[in-house]
Amino acid sequence: MKHLLKLLDLSTEEIVDILDLADKLKYQKTHGIPHRILEGKSLGMVFAKSSTRTRISFEAGMFQLGGQALFLSASDMQINRGEPVEDTARVLSRYLDGIMIRTFAQAEVEALAEHGDIPIINGLTDFCHPCQVLADLMTIREHKGLLQGLKMCYIGDGNNMANSLIVGGLKMGMKVACASPKGYEPWREVLDFAAPNPDFLLTSEPLEAAAGADVLLTDVWASMGQEGERAERQAAFAGKYQINAELLAAANPDAMVQHCLPAHKGEEITAEVFESHAAEIFDEAENRLHAQKAVMVKLMS
Ligand code: CP
Ligand code: NVA
Repeated sequence: MKHLLKLLDLSTEEIVDILDLADKLKYQKTHGIPHRILEGKSLGMVFAKSSTRTRISFEAGMFQLGGQALFLSASDMQINRGEPVEDTARVLSRYLDGIMIRTFAQAEVEALAEHGDIPIINGLTDFCHPCQVLADLMTIREHKGLLQGLKMCYIGDGNNMANSLIVGGLKMGMKVACASPKGYEPWREVLDFAAPNPDFLLTSEPLEAAAGADVLLTDVWASMGQEGERAERQAAFAGKYQINAELLAAANPDAMVQHCLPAHKGEEITAEVFESHAAEIFDEAENRLHAQKAVMVKLMS
């Protein structure tokens, strides 16, 4: 594994390796055992979109690993004034040991990997959010003891989260059901991967997707960059694509709830369900730190 660009590129064994290492690093962190595996290494973190969890967990994680993380706002870099991504990649490769990038186009992340010669980590694009889903899989496994055979249900927009959850869940042997409104389904590349798998279900009916689920997940109706579509999206999602008490009642009695955050309570999830599953949701947020440290160690040590 040279980069983390999208989960479609990873084998099941590579995902399991990351999750196992993440568990070990979490144990070391919580027991005060030093793990300065990336001493002297520098990670550049390029952000063209906002972030709380991704930025802070990468930055703190790199510090805990003995390395350094540099926050690079894309709007302050020459790339924003038209410097080509292939030149940026070649320059950054001379200074840094790895780059985490959050941006719009997946093609930009792939181009950095193609033209640079250091590991590239996708910290979210419009297409996918692999770091988040590694943390989600880690959290589900931590709470349930295993992943294989469990049913994952995603309700809502067929966005970056849906795309990565479908791929990650299926690669780990989970059953994956996704309920999205017509016109807001997951991306073609993901459906092409998932459709032949008998463990995959795509529907527009949330209750059908939630039936017998072991974990329910959702995400915002309008993602970063889609602010102008808010009203139209509200109309397409409201009243149906929400994790609420009725949906939970269709799932297994001990079903978990996960949300990548930030959440719009009252939209994709009720405040009541969010608060009654807050322990799992904030474990998921914490596990961003451990899962990303594992990714950095795999790619940069
Ligand atoms: N879940 C997630 O990626 O959060 P941030 O946008 O705060 O980084
Ligand atoms: N789908 C959301 C995820 C945020 C972590 C977005 O892209 O804005």
